[in-house]
Amino acid sequence: MERTESQMLIIFGASGDLTARKLIPALFHLHCGKYLPKNFLVLGVSRSEFSDEEFREKVVYKSSYLEGDIKEKGSKIAEEFADKLFYHDLGASYEASYVALSKRIATLNEKYQTRDNFIFYLSTPPNIYEVIAKNLSEQGLTHQENGWKRLIVEKPFGYDLASAKDLNHGLHRFFNEDQIFRIDHYLGKETVQNLLVTRFANSIFEPLWNRNYIQHIEITNAESVGVEKRGGYYDGAGALRDMFQNHLLQIVSLIVMEPPISAEAESIRNEKVKALKSLRILRDEESLKENIIRGQYLSAEIDGKKVKGYREEDGVDPDSTTETFVAIKFFVDNWRWKDVPFYVRTAKRMPTKVTEVVIHFKPPHHKIFTESGMFNKDNKLIIRIQPDEGILIKFGVKVPGQGFKVERANLDFYYDSLAENNLMAAYERLLLDAMQGDATLYARADEVEAAWEFVDPILEFWNTSKDSMIYGYSAGVWGPQNADDLIEGENTWRNPGSNLADDPGFCVIN
Ligand code: BG6
Repeated sequence: MERTESQMLIIFGASGDLTARKLIPALFHLHCGKYLPKNFLVLGVSRSEFSDEEFREKVVYKSSYLEGDIKEKGSKIAEEFADKLFYHDLGASYEASYVALSKRIATLNEKYQTRDNFIFYLSTPPNIYEVIAKNLSEQGLTHQENGWKRLIVEKPFGYDLASAKDLNHGLHRFFNEDQIFRIDHYLGKETVQNLLVTRFANSIFEPLWNRNYIQHIEITNAESVGVEKRGGYYDGAGALRDMFQNHLLQIVSLIVMEPPISAEAESIRNEKVKALKSLRILRDEESLKENIIRGQYLSAEIDGKKVKGYREEDGVDPDSTTETFVAIKFFVDNWRWKDVPFYVRTAKRMPTKVTEVVIHFKPPHHKIFTESGMFNKDNKLIIRIQPDEGILIKFGVKVPGQGFKVERANLDFYYDSLAENNLMAAYERLLLDAMQGDATLYARADEVEAAWEFVDPILEFWNTSKDSMIYGYSAGVWGPQNADDLIEGENTWRNPGSNLADDPGFCVIN
């Protein structure tokens, strides 16, 4: 295990939901696993009035997100952990003077010997990232003469290509690129990281990982929940910005990339950028119309209960045309992937929660078992990102008995079968990496911009073209019916689970 140096984690937006829901539980688990350095503390910063003790009450002792953990681990360890947490009230605005904050940091640094090593975690709206960076810089808190300084920023990183570039430019005024850690929690998932290991630590997959053997690639990210309490944010974002631009394009880049020269952060990130830049951008109206289906969930009855439609959700405009489903077909313009279609979809209010990558292999070139019916069933490699994390290979076996009847069999591996099955939650892994200065699982500026390059023309088309349709689908079904037509030939999406609503509710809503 790498050594984690003494340090202070300063969380901006500490009174918000993410801090209580994800960050503090992740830190608590790291504390219980003895991953935190001896000299470590968290300083929560935001505009609410809390004392240190009130902050500890909120995010530890009275937090519903830690209740189970504290019961399991005991109150002594919770107290030990809570004692590492402090709070600073910034006053009315994030634009205020940071003199008092700077003094507080200096006092804590001195007292707890955190050696001037600071991570600033921005869990605030992105439009104030630059203001915070500027204020920190004015207090000399970005200088690295004595101890390192790092900045972690949450998604969304930009609203489109132009705003992402502005944001990068704004942050680069005060921090060097190697100080900036752009978080994408999908990269913290074991199974997403395992894509690299599957491909580059085995000799059996990589020789097949190309246009000669792969027929098409399918990626599904489905959530059974709707927008829940985040209607206000989601209505201005939509599935394309919320999931596709970041999490799904990160997965795509790991599938598409060429073998890196080493496992160093920069080698891997160089290949990922190259991969994202090789995606064929859908630019003309015809391609944008034909290769993208967007949808929005409608109310439905599931198990006798009425489920709200998207437009009825709190914080959502009743005439909203924001997509909660998007399916995209695209190609990758390089030697390895020429003519191999990629189909990627993400949606809310699907029948189940699942994220998986399905690699469909080409059928055998010469078919000798003509009557077995196997030729409509391709060989598949299914990489299950969540839940039931694991890998499955589907292949043909002979049915015992006369003749050559072929049936489908599975070779599988599930993470929960490992004796040492200590899956770190995404935020734990990512926080620990940033504490150790490892940026491999964080997105670099050019990576984020390359992803926006692909997404921007789609947003533009939806905003401006009369021809861009949005289709309704009942909550609890696998999206609008016509999303099936996106996949060429007799193939269709692999739907791991059946529809929950009887009526597909398919209609044009814009
Ligand atoms: C977030 C999105 O980034 O990822 C949410 O903003 C989404 O809308 C979430 O629900 C999904 O994450 P996971 O880890 O549950 O698949």
